Amino acid sequence: MTNVGIDAIDLWVGNLRLDLPGTFAPEKGEDPNKYKKGLGLYASSFPDSYEDIVTMGANASYRLMERNELTPEDIGRIDVATESAFDKSKPVSTYIAGCLEKVYEEDFRHANKGERKFACISGTQSLNDAYNWIASGRNRGKGALVIATDTALYERGDAGEATQGAGAVAMYITEDPSIVSFSKEQGIGSADETDFLKPNQQFPSVDGHRSMQVYLARMREALEDYKSVTGDIHPDDITYGPFHTPFPGMVKKAAVLAYRNVIRGTEVADEIEDEVGRQPEPEDYDDEEEYLEELREFTDTLRNTDRYLDWYAKRIEPTLQISEQVGNWYTGSVHVARISALLHAFEHDRSIVDEQMIVASYGSGAQAEIHAETFQSGWKQKIAKLDVEEQLASRYDLTFAEYEQVHDNHNLDIETDVEPLTTPEDQFAFDGWGAMGERKYRFVD
Ligand code: HMG
Repeated sequence: MTNVGIDAIDLWVGNLRLDLPGTFAPEKGEDPNKYKKGLGLYASSFPDSYEDIVTMGANASYRLMERNELTPEDIGRIDVATESAFDKSKPVSTYIAGCLEKVYEEDFRHANKGERKFACISGTQSLNDAYNWIASGRNRGKGALVIATDTALYERGDAGEATQGAGAVAMYITEDPSIVSFSKEQGIGSADETDFLKPNQQFPSVDGHRSMQVYLARMREALEDYKSVTGDIHPDDITYGPFHTPFPGMVKKAAVLAYRNVIRGTEVADEIEDEVGRQPEPEDYDDEEEYLEELREFTDTLRNTDRYLDWYAKRIEPTLQISEQVGNWYTGSVHVARISALLHAFEHDRSIVDEQMIVASYGSGAQAEIHAETFQSGWKQKIAKLDVEEQLASRYDLTFAEYEQVHDNHNLDIETDVEPLTTPEDQFAFDGWGAMGERKYRFVD
């Protein structure tokens, strides 16, 4: 069977930073602990005025190609996943390829380019497309470049404003990859939902609290579907569990439900029975409300056991370290969580080859997908090349007034002309509009 997965990975963090508990919360008259303890967010990343989904995607891809000595000749396919696209016809991947062709001698004339849409899950769907393309043997020995890029902005004053972010993840998918291989097995949970959508509008219409319930429901369905193919999963066989992370507090809610699900019938359930009791099962109750109340109580007890807290600290918390500093990157978010896990393993010098991650993706509208990834022998050398800490630290810190200007600057309905707050260097930058309304870009040395 073909072994397909991620051979190289990189990211680009928007050049600006908004301190959420320190700068945003006081202006909103909110307690900073809503961010630090409730949402689990410390900062959002924002794009400067010369940045957008194309520059961020091109910058992540350029870094990936340079650090891994790739040229356009190595890439037979470019897929961009985004929910911030500005054109209904011409895909963002053509713009990104155009940027990259400014710095490479070769071109992408024979690369198949496209764009994927299904809210935040489309990044993972693009990985699946790459997997299928390679596994079918249509790739002629080449790899696929998958880019997840978004400016995840909400309307000013919307509750979602607290969870904004901007950035891009680039991934190079090949046969016999260095970092992780994808499982053939996957689970899907999918339903027609209207909790978060952008009907021909830039900023989402969102029913925030309901969207969280929809996330949890689809994740449960995807997990059940996944287990129907693989059989039971043991919680200790999951080295890391990267989830789609709109904000870390969401993952905290999802992780305990996943844990509750996978310990059912295992020795873990027996070992903690004295502490938490037996997990309520629906068939033991005539009254559904009573069952749900007992289940809530069981879950609350479970989430405070040492056994669970230790599992969460080792396997889930490490996936949230970048996210809490950048906010939601929509399509890139679960891939940021994967990078965070890999960096954790690298920093702690862990031996993880042949161990597994369970990757839990989600997109509003709504669909969840679960698959496994197995760490490959070259992961350490590849992760050593990343400079995530440096990128996070070198962002410009916004005042609240600057934040308002930046938000307006990226609002397509408002005409503004603001000076950039940072100076681009060794990166792609927006360079104005062309005669047909197209965006133009340049590489700044
Ligand atoms: P909100 O009403 O501003 O916040 O909305 P809240 O009052 O619910 O507070 C948030 C948490 O902080 C709560 O924790 C509070 O208790 C806690 P919880 O009770 O839920 O566990 N809190 C505090 N904790 C300690 N000390 C304090 C304090 N104050 C409050 N002083 C909401 C929050 C997430 C709903 C909002 O920001 C929103 O609408 N966000 C956008 C939607 C979203 O992110 N949904 C997530 C699931 S859907 C998804 O992931 C898909 C998505 O990525 C899009 C796509 O797929 O394309 C969004």
